[in-house]
Amino acid sequence: MTALASQSPAAPPAGTPVHAPAGPALPVTFSRLGRSFGTGPTSHQVLRDINFEVSPGEVLAILGSSGCGKSTLLRAAAGLDAASTGEVLINGTAVRGIDDRCAVAFQEPRLLPWQTLQANIAMGLPKGTSAKHGKAKVAELLELVELADFAKHRPRAVSGGMAQRASLARALARTPECSCSMNPSAPWTR
Ligand SMILES: Nc1ncnc2c1ncn2[C@@H]1O[C@H](COP(=O)(O)OP(=O)(O)OP(=O)(O)O)[C@@H](O)[C@H]1O
Ligand SMILES: [Mg+2]
Repeated sequence: MTALASQSPAAPPAGTPVHAPAGPALPVTFSRLGRSFGTGPTSHQVLRDINFEVSPGEVLAILGSSGCGKSTLLRAAAGLDAASTGEVLINGTAVRGIDDRCAVAFQEPRLLPWQTLQANIAMGLPKGTSAKHGKAKVAELLELVELADFAKHRPRAVSGGMAQRASLARALARTPECSCSMNPSAPWTR
């Protein structure tokens, strides 16, 4: 597995509309992380002694062959999977179970087929968001992922890449402090 890092892009020139959600980014630390599946002779160690830190605002790409453990690593960061050993810390606090500070765009879009794209994105809004703020946020995210003209479409009526972008927008709706995308190039394939 390989990690490629870059800092966030420089601020755009004055007057440029800023669409990206501006949450307070937090550092994420992977500390002695290990994950095995199964027990006894069928036990399969996927991650062993993973140690690295992602700085606030850093964009990190994790590359590796299929099945090497990339999604397993990101699931641990979001608290969707429990590590066998070690831990993940967000801003110094260990992730224990599903963690509101981290949002995930899954490898598959996982949209609700009976809901419109805008309703699917709205599902990512934090609890207690006012209707007015929620509507504005969803509209901003639809613009960000270039789906404003497809807000009322259902997932079956859009392409795979468009569905992926809606899934990404849903992950960003909470303005998370860190976000994990399990297939970051898929939303932008043309
Ligand atoms: N819940 C599970 N139970 C058993 N094995 C699992 C489980 N989740 C993942 N694995 C195994 O862990 C390994 C890593 O899976 P993971 O999904 O992290 O791979 P990946 O690097 O994301 O692959 P891809 O590039 O194909 O998405 C695979 O061998 C997979 O079969
Ligand atoms: Mg994967």
